[in-house]
Amino acid sequence: MRSINISLTPENFSAFSHIKDPIVVVVDILRATSVISTAFHYGIKEVIPVKSVEQAKNYLKTNNYIVAAERNALPLKGFDYGNSPFQYMNKKILNKTLVLTTTNGTKAINIASKNQVITASYINFNSICRYLIQSNKNIIILCSGWKGVFNLEDSIFAGYLTNEILKNKNYISNCDSVKASIILYNSSKNNLFEFLSDSAHRNRLKHLNMEKDTKFCLCPNFKSDIIPFLDNGKLKPLVLE
Ligand code: MLT
Repeated sequence: MRSINISLTPENFSAFSHIKDPIVVVVDILRATSVISTAFHYGIKEVIPVKSVEQAKNYLKTNNYIVAAERNALPLKGFDYGNSPFQYMNKKILNKTLVLTTTNGTKAINIASKNQVITASYINFNSICRYLIQSNKNIIILCSGWKGVFNLEDSIFAGYLTNEILKNKNYISNCDSVKASIILYNSSKNNLFEFLSDSAHRNRLKHLNMEKDTKFCLCPNFKSDIIPFLDNGKLKPLVLE
C-alpha cells in the first residue's frame, strides 16, 4: 500500500520527512502553479523557480530568458513579467526559459527540491491524477499557503486531488490534514468561486483589481496534459503516453 499526505504549509513539510521516497506535488493555485501550467501550455521551454529576487536579477538580460518576479501579489519593477497567468498567454514566450520568483510557490518548490517534485493546478489536474496513480509511490501534496499560513484554495485543491487518488485502493491515508482538506473540498465543490468569496488571498487580489486572475486560476478555460517536473533545479514538461 502507498500513503498520501497533505502538508498544509511549507513550514509543516519537515514533519513528513519520514515518508519514504515520496513524489511531492507542489500546489499554489493563486497563482504560481497556475502560472507555471499556463506558461508550459503556451510553449515555454522550462521554468527555473528561484527563492529570492536577487537570484532572479542574475538572469536579467540573458538571451531567450523571461525573468518574472512577484512579491505580495504585485509584479516587481525592473522585471519582464509578474505572476499573472494572462501575461503568459502569448506567442512571445515560445521556447523561452522562464525564471520565476514568487512569495510562496517558488519557495515551496525549493523547500521540496531534494525530492521528486511536480507542480499541479486545475489546468493539469487530470494528468496529475493519472501520473500519480501510475507512479505507485508515496505522495505528499505540499500547499504553498501564504507566508507560512494555511490558505483555503490550496487546501481545497489538495482535498480534491486526494479524494481522487484515494479512489485507487492502492492508496491509504490516516492524516487529519487529508480528512480536513477533503471536507473542505466537498463543502466547496458545487461553487468554488462563491465558497472562496471572502478568502484571504481572493480579497488581496480583488483589492489589486486582479479578480480576473482568481477566476481563471480556479476555473481555467483550457486544460493541459503537461506535468512540470523538477530536474536539477529546472521545471521541465512531461507529457504522459
Ligand atoms: C504566489 O506565490 O503565487 C504568490 O505569492 C501569490 C500571487 O502571486 O498571487
